[in-house]
Amino acid sequence: MGSITLEKVSKSFGTTSVIPEIDLEINDGEFVVFVGPSGCGKSTLLRMIAGLEDLSGGRIIIDGKDMSSEAPAKRGLSMVFQSYALYPHMTVYGNIAFPLKMDGQEKSAIDKKVKDAAHILNLTNYLDRRPGQLSGGQRQRVAIGRAIVRQPKAFLFDEPLSNLDAALRGNMRLEISDLHHQLKTTMIYVTHDQVEAMTMADKIVVLNAGRIEQVGSPMELYRSPKNVFVAGFIGSPRMNLIEGAEAAKHNVTTLGVRPEHIRISTTEGAWKGKVGVTEHLGSDTFIHTQVDGIGQVTVRTDGDFDTKHGQPIFLTPDPARLHRFGADGQVI
Ligand SMILES: Nc1ncnc2c1ncn2[C@@H]1O[C@H](COP(=O)(O)OP(=O)(O)OP(=O)(O)O)[C@@H](O)[C@H]1O
Ligand SMILES: [Mg+2]
Repeated sequence: MGSITLEKVSKSFGTTSVIPEIDLEINDGEFVVFVGPSGCGKSTLLRMIAGLEDLSGGRIIIDGKDMSSEAPAKRGLSMVFQSYALYPHMTVYGNIAFPLKMDGQEKSAIDKKVKDAAHILNLTNYLDRRPGQLSGGQRQRVAIGRAIVRQPKAFLFDEPLSNLDAALRGNMRLEISDLHHQLKTTMIYVTHDQVEAMTMADKIVVLNAGRIEQVGSPMELYRSPKNVFVAGFIGSPRMNLIEGAEAAKHNVTTLGVRPEHIRISTTEGAWKGKVGVTEHLGSDTFIHTQVDGIGQVTVRTDGDFDTKHGQPIFLTPDPARLHRFGADGQVI
């Protein structure tokens, strides 16, 4: 079991309030991602759940029990950090076994748990190596192995993949999602990368300056962002957020339209402009255009769409997929 409830949780460092007040429900077995820009309080919130940081106010309830002032080791949670924090002089086996040895468990029980974890994480052939003899991805798997053997109520991950290169990050993303399917243990995963959030989460919590902007499934946030912040943060390339005369025509302060919801044509359309930079990804093409009276608008289209820099172009946004925001930044 691993349900976690945050009740009016707040945090200040001295007189600086970092998290004003957060209420959040995390269900047993859920994969929850905290996402938001640098400095918004993701790590602080995770560290408070782990017990590594005191609360300034509120309560943290784990499986129905108030754990707000319980020591980290008593909370039954395992944390995995960005810096793998492995012991360099110990083998992979020794690193994974370490928390169990500290816990005073029997040698044969330890051996079974370490080997099971190594099997799940494809580390069986590396058990005798030291961390210095492993790749970044393998090191991160060892850190995850050390978390798994403790059989926690929940895993807490703080940007575990940000030290890895793009290809390896993609692989590890799949591995962690797969691990979640196998273990079915609650996972809270912190990242500033909205792609990780979209691809891994059952539930995304979008944070901004210590506040929750929106909570929902990836597709809920993509389809129905509640405000300009979430609209601009979730989705890649990011949503075009148009202000000024064009927004006023729709009686809104900000008109949002995703690059994939704009039709592009060389001959006709609602908006006229010029092609700027074109990014060919092979499968898709991102075309950054300069539209008369609107400004920069990015369009996502087929990989085969051919354009020249400076060429005249016409855009037509899908009227059914416009997002309308008022002066307060909230959806209308
Ligand atoms: N010990 C501390 N003392 C004072 N301020 C702190 C302390 N730890 C964090 N902060 C501040 O709290 C805010 C939130 O920090 P936090 O580390 O939680 O951000 P984050 O969302 O994890 O950012 P990042 O994506 O860069 O890791 C920041 O403004 C940070 O400067
Ligand atoms: Mg952080």
